[in-house]
Amino acid sequence: MSRPTLAVILAAGEGTRMKSSLSKVLHAVAGRPMLAHVLASVRAAGIGDAAVVVGPGREDVAEVARKSFPGCSVFTQAERKGTGHAVLAAREALEGRKDVIVLYADTPLVQSRSIQALKAALEEGAHVAVLGFHTANPTGYGRLVIEDGALARIVEEKDATADQKVIGFCNGGLMALRGETSLSLLDAIGNANAKGEYYLTDAAEIAHGRGLKAVARPIAEEEVQGVNDRAQLAAAEAVMQTRLRTAAMKEGVTLVAPDTVFFSYDTVIGNDVVVEPNCWFGPGVIIESGAVIHAFSHLEGARVASGASVGPFARLRPGADLGRDVKVGNFVEIKAAQVEEGAKISHLSYIGDARVGAEANIGAGTITCNYDGYLKHRTDIGAGAFIGSNSALVAPVKVGDNANVGAGSVITRDVAGDALAVARGRQIEIAGWAKNYRAAKKAEKAAKAKR
Ligand code: UD1
Ligand code: MG
Repeated sequence: MSRPTLAVILAAGEGTRMKSSLSKVLHAVAGRPMLAHVLASVRAAGIGDAAVVVGPGREDVAEVARKSFPGCSVFTQAERKGTGHAVLAAREALEGRKDVIVLYADTPLVQSRSIQALKAALEEGAHVAVLGFHTANPTGYGRLVIEDGALARIVEEKDATADQKVIGFCNGGLMALRGETSLSLLDAIGNANAKGEYYLTDAAEIAHGRGLKAVARPIAEEEVQGVNDRAQLAAAEAVMQTRLRTAAMKEGVTLVAPDTVFFSYDTVIGNDVVVEPNCWFGPGVIIESGAVIHAFSHLEGARVASGASVGPFARLRPGADLGRDVKVGNFVEIKAAQVEEGAKISHLSYIGDARVGAEANIGAGTITCNYDGYLKHRTDIGAGAFIGSNSALVAPVKVGDNANVGAGSVITRDVAGDALAVARGRQIEIAGWAKNYRAAKKAEKAAKAKR
């Protein structure tokens, strides 16, 4: 009995053209590292075993691999000698497999149905299968040479003759190998080529030469766009965003100006949500049905319940949890705070490490002073409380249910429920003072001018 299908993900490329201290495959697309996108597609294709090949000392890449695909094995390619060499770094995981699917970690847009199409090609009798795309600009890609419907060989750009260079049918980079012949094909790959590398792509010609079936299945160019530099990273981001926006709109979300709204791979957004222009959704955001996100809002790690309204110009940071019908208005920042049903924080506030009880009203300019320079402290505001404008609530502090805080207060002690707390200079009034003051000052100025 053979072991189940294995996905091998090649992630040993540092990507010098990225000019980055971060490994190329850890650069994010829609808030998630490219490597994690590829692993997610592998999982979605129903493949349960994965081997990730990383460069020497790349514990950071290994960690992302293990986190995104628990149970995957990680292998190190000691020297970068080509994609064929990289696959063999995972030799012990390859042994005795039903099938092997090789993917590149710098190709984050690949979808599970394409991985399944490759597997299907093996089930239909192929020993080697690749995904090919037609393009007007094939430069840099391996060219697929098709003879009598079979994939005779793949010629890399640097090794291609002038005749081969005009071939517009290119290798998308994914390859499926039938388990029983996979190791023998991979072991037969040599490095007699322009780059002196062991090319995985040579497996096609070797199979064809042995009379084993090699095939190319079609795929859209967009799906196999590789990322080797920052411009290509931005291009991949654009494709991913288009997918996420389209999916949201299909689910009944109104995007007034879709091109200006940016989602993360995991954004959860209910139907009848309206998102106005220029909004950003970082990882971990859940927006329930019927909420409205007004223009220029920035959200990450936040939940917004039904009927709530956010922005314009609001910032929800991780742990912001807005209950039903909550209103968070312009220039309000919320972090690690539960804002309960119907509460209103309409303008110019910072609420951090706090609870705001149901139906409470937080006046403009209210700040929770949650940080003493060393530690964070909590503020608890009871249901129905009314916090007057421009108040500072110095945590740790509690304001009881239905209490009022006078505008401009600096609250340093707990306030009992139903009480009024005012903590500011008491107002005094001196009759005629302003009139006398003006007269005195006018005289002083006139005397000075005469001198
Ligand atoms: C490769 C294919 C080419 C295909 C193109 C699609 C080969 C020889 N060529 O070319 O036919 O059209 O992808 O994008 O496979 N890697 C390692 N170790 C190595 C070399 C590469 O792990 O020693 C990894 C890289 O991190 C990368 C992937 O393999 O994720 C592909 O390598 P890259 O050098 O980008 O190959 P291309 O020249 O793009
Ligand atoms: Mg590449």
